[in-house]
Amino acid sequence: MFPDSTGRSNGPFRGRAQFLKYMGFCRFSTRLARWAGAASALAGAFLLSGCLWLDGPQSTFEPAGPVAREQLDLFYTTCWVTLVIFILVGSVLAYAMVKFRARSEADEHAEPPPQGHGNPLVEVSLIGASVLSLVIIAIPTLKDIWYVYEVPAAEKANAYEVTATGYQWWFKFDYPNETAQTLDPSGKLVSAPLTTGNELVIPAGRPVHINLRTVDVIHSFWIPKLAGKVDMVPNRANFLWIEADKPGYFWGQCAEFCGESHAVMRFRVIALGPREFYAWLNAQMEPARSVAPPTAEELSRPRAQFAAYRTFQHNEGGYTNRFDVNPLDAWREQQQPDKAEDPVLVAKGRGLFASKTCISCHTVRGMEGAVGVQGPELTHVASRTTIAGGLLENNRDELHRWIHSPGDVKPGNKMWVNGYLVNNIKLTPEDEDALVSFLRSLK
Ligand code: CUA
Repeated sequence: MFPDSTGRSNGPFRGRAQFLKYMGFCRFSTRLARWAGAASALAGAFLLSGCLWLDGPQSTFEPAGPVAREQLDLFYTTCWVTLVIFILVGSVLAYAMVKFRARSEADEHAEPPPQGHGNPLVEVSLIGASVLSLVIIAIPTLKDIWYVYEVPAAEKANAYEVTATGYQWWFKFDYPNETAQTLDPSGKLVSAPLTTGNELVIPAGRPVHINLRTVDVIHSFWIPKLAGKVDMVPNRANFLWIEADKPGYFWGQCAEFCGESHAVMRFRVIALGPREFYAWLNAQMEPARSVAPPTAEELSRPRAQFAAYRTFQHNEGGYTNRFDVNPLDAWREQQQPDKAEDPVLVAKGRGLFASKTCISCHTVRGMEGAVGVQGPELTHVASRTTIAGGLLENNRDELHRWIHSPGDVKPGNKMWVNGYLVNNIKLTPEDEDALVSFLRSLK
């Protein structure tokens, strides 16, 4: 006895064929239910496992400073309120489904009950409960909007200031209150702005006010463990503040689609204790390290055969597990000079850096003519743990991979398109080796 297309019940099945069709449907729907059950169990297990491992380098569930902690607390408040609402609404729904389910044939096609205008008490309480839950979420939200907006007044005098500028696809960091040194054409030391790229070094335990700028499109500046994202908008002076509780090494990432290589626009933040931070600042203020030119004896010495670099697969990861255990120590190690430095290669690379027009886009303080500002500042590039906008680890192989074919690593980037292609830059493997050696010498 099943309804026909008009909805009326029309008695038992019309013949054996219809009955068999109906039984097939039943078997199908039982199978469907079983599959749905299994799938949701699996999905639940995945979700649960996702909740058990929340400790990646970009996890917002492990805040390392007051701003990120405040934002996580707000997230939890919102979660708890919505969880309570979910449980209440879910239980009422489940109760109604069970209690008023169709128990008999007659129930399935019963007349609807008499319609009324509802229960004023229930309606008013529901409105009251909704308002209350919104207020519970709104109070900490508003409090946090003010808190994360600017360094709290009490700590303002202690705040350190930096400026971060987004470029397609890397970040420039300026230290507006520091003065670095460079050489003028006559070889005299003169002052210059202190600028770095892709790795922001900050003092730990101190609020840092970051001015956010962009030279091209909208980017978004995000250090998940230190603070939520804030956009870098053309012609708009945005800012945010962060503070790292203690020294550490943090991953950052552009969080706004900004062109074809947006996904590989990354950076790092290194927080250091006061003494180490100022030691770093002093080292950065120095002009680029220059390696003594090779002596006649060194030049005439027989040289080892040039050993080819390894080749990389497309989309191969750009870093080793050297940073998994203690990235801050890996960073410290990176500050030390390269032991296997070859003055002959460094000198050759230095010459190529000028003759292949690298100097027109990159600044190397103290090197004549190297005052370009299109690309990252390279004065102390070898002391950074990453290159190519935080994408590749800064070691010989990855440096070679980058300068050999930047377009394969970061499609559309300006070094490739406006540099190599427009200027028709050709490098032999030996040239690349010398350039790598020169860049490695810039500690
Ligand atoms: Cu810059 Cu996405």
